[in-house]
Amino acid sequence: MRLAKFLANSGIASRRAAEEIIRAGRVTVAGQTVVDPARDVDSSSGVALDGRPVGVKAPELVVYAVHKPAGVVSTASDPQGRPTVVALVEVPQRLYPVGRLDADTTGLILLTNDGELAHRLTHPSFEVDKTYRAVVSGGPVGEAALRSLRTGVQLEDGMTAPARVRRVGTDTLEITIHEGRKRQVKRMCEHVGHRVLSLQRIRFGPLRLGELPPGAHRRLSAEEVSLLRAAGSADRRSARM
Ligand code: URA
Repeated sequence: MRLAKFLANSGIASRRAAEEIIRAGRVTVAGQTVVDPARDVDSSSGVALDGRPVGVKAPELVVYAVHKPAGVVSTASDPQGRPTVVALVEVPQRLYPVGRLDADTTGLILLTNDGELAHRLTHPSFEVDKTYRAVVSGGPVGEAALRSLRTGVQLEDGMTAPARVRRVGTDTLEITIHEGRKRQVKRMCEHVGHRVLSLQRIRFGPLRLGELPPGAHRRLSAEEVSLLRAAGSADRRSARM
């Protein structure tokens, strides 16, 4: 983009004033003085005004909670052209999903442009709890199945960690896990003889899905983001041990 526009977009001055600043010889690109306002630059060009870098302002970090409907994928783009959770939230920041939900799973998913926070919330070593409500076939779910789910079941990719499991109806379970293996809840339930008919994530760390309608989103408050950061902190892990 033109150097004058670049300075204006960076909030330095109006486009016209930026042209005067450039002509006055106050702007350098990669260390060389440039007096042509039409010079083509971008944020990697090394633009500086009076010796101070311009246009490298860090973007505002944001986190959104989204109620993912069924049929929407939680990748940033989909080769099959299905709708994405990212497209549900139209904001200037480039957001990406924190972890994944299967296309047919509904419920709470977070979107952010904060890579560090996303890493902390998804890496298994930080053990952030996620709670799912699963409606299963073959109810009522018996005590033996509940016990197995709670202590851990042997899946093809290894034993699952102990889970918190509550029966909230004859065919409905609330399952809290902190691992994030592919199709984990579905595979755990299948292992104990109950196929998952529908799955919804109702909690992610300290955040609840609450009354957010399907397809809707809301920006998290600074307080909620702090709670998420605390949930993804190493201190919490050592406190638990
Ligand atoms: N477990 C599953 O089986 N599917 C999901 O989408 C999330 C957790």
